[in-house]
Amino acid sequence: MKAIVIYQAGGPEQLKYVDVPTPQVKPGWSLVKIHAFGLNHSEVFTRKGESPTVHFPRILGIEGVGEIAQTTDPGRLPVGQAVVSLMGEMGRAFDGSYAEYALLPNQQIYPVTTSLSWTQLAVYPETYFTAYTSLKNLQPKPGDRYLVRGGTSGVGIAFLNLIKAKEPNAEVVGTTRSLAKVTRMRELGFSSVIEDQQGELQTNGRFDKVLELIGPATIKDTFRHVNEGGIVCITGLLGNQWTLEGFDPIFDIAPGAYLTGGYSGNVSEVRINEMFDYLKKYQVKEQPDRVFKLAEVPTAHAYLASKECMGKVVIEVD
Ligand SMILES: NC(=O)c1ccc[n+]([C@@H]2O[C@H](COP(=O)([O-])OP(=O)(O)OC[C@H]3O[C@@H](n4cnc5c(N)ncnc54)[C@H](OP(=O)(O)O)[C@@H]3O)[C@@H](O)[C@H]2O)c1
Repeated sequence: MKAIVIYQAGGPEQLKYVDVPTPQVKPGWSLVKIHAFGLNHSEVFTRKGESPTVHFPRILGIEGVGEIAQTTDPGRLPVGQAVVSLMGEMGRAFDGSYAEYALLPNQQIYPVTTSLSWTQLAVYPETYFTAYTSLKNLQPKPGDRYLVRGGTSGVGIAFLNLIKAKEPNAEVVGTTRSLAKVTRMRELGFSSVIEDQQGELQTNGRFDKVLELIGPATIKDTFRHVNEGGIVCITGLLGNQWTLEGFDPIFDIAPGAYLTGGYSGNVSEVRINEMFDYLKKYQVKEQPDRVFKLAEVPTAHAYLASKECMGKVVIEVD
């Protein structure tokens, strides 16, 4: 089969389009014909060698959509069944979705019923599950004022779409380091845009619910903009700082506010179906920002890390 294999850490050019043997099924695992998959920022970290537990050579890709090609669970996962898969060490401890086929543990293959194209379906699994989990952890209430710190990221835009589909008049403010993106962010649906200048938000405004995607690097500044009783959910690490250092919870958490986290690894069939039900019920829609072919993954990685990228990048495998 064709696959993108990384043999050593580095730039996008280290992602090689090669022929490799199609994986053989083994007990408890099934073979999925990958039709499309979304790219994720975490794969950029891994490509650069910043995921210490990932050993090369490896086929990256932490999510994918496709159909069952060979099964060890014909009851739940019959051949031809449309499925999605994400996380669970896919593309990390074992080969992932940057390929024509992926051999995956049955328990992390989730059957779906959908009328969407593969390319459209690929927008949702990892990015929307992350955004949906974060939104739930923020305990949304009607009238909440939201801030998305990292508003131009795939997860940030998914979070915006989840809220706006249910509550079209909700105030959802996004941040960016680049004011050149303001018009496009407004077109996407952000109520307004705040500049994030060297880790300081250029506003005196305060919010009830904050999705923090820059992460520990900006969390102290974020809490300066949170109302009493507000909640901040750290889900992203775009600021390249993974842990809280020099953080005094007594003084640095805004008075009466709360800190939580969002993690897409907490996935199960029940939770992913709940998310797809929400997408259907509120007719949440998002077009991919850009679509590339499997052989173009190096170009797609460069695009994902570029200033132009805004939203979900999808790879078509067919
Ligand atoms: N917790 C979880 O389970 C989970 C799951 C999925 C993703 N994530 C995390 O969520 C974050 C977003 O993921 P994604 O795939 O949606 O990202 P993405 O689309 O690749 O994000 C791109 C955006 O990140 C911003 N950015 C890049 N480097 C930055 C920096 N050094 N400081 C501040 N902003 C920076 C840029 O915004 P501007 O140039 O407009 O400022 C850019 O538009 C990532 O940290 C990812 O690892 C976490």
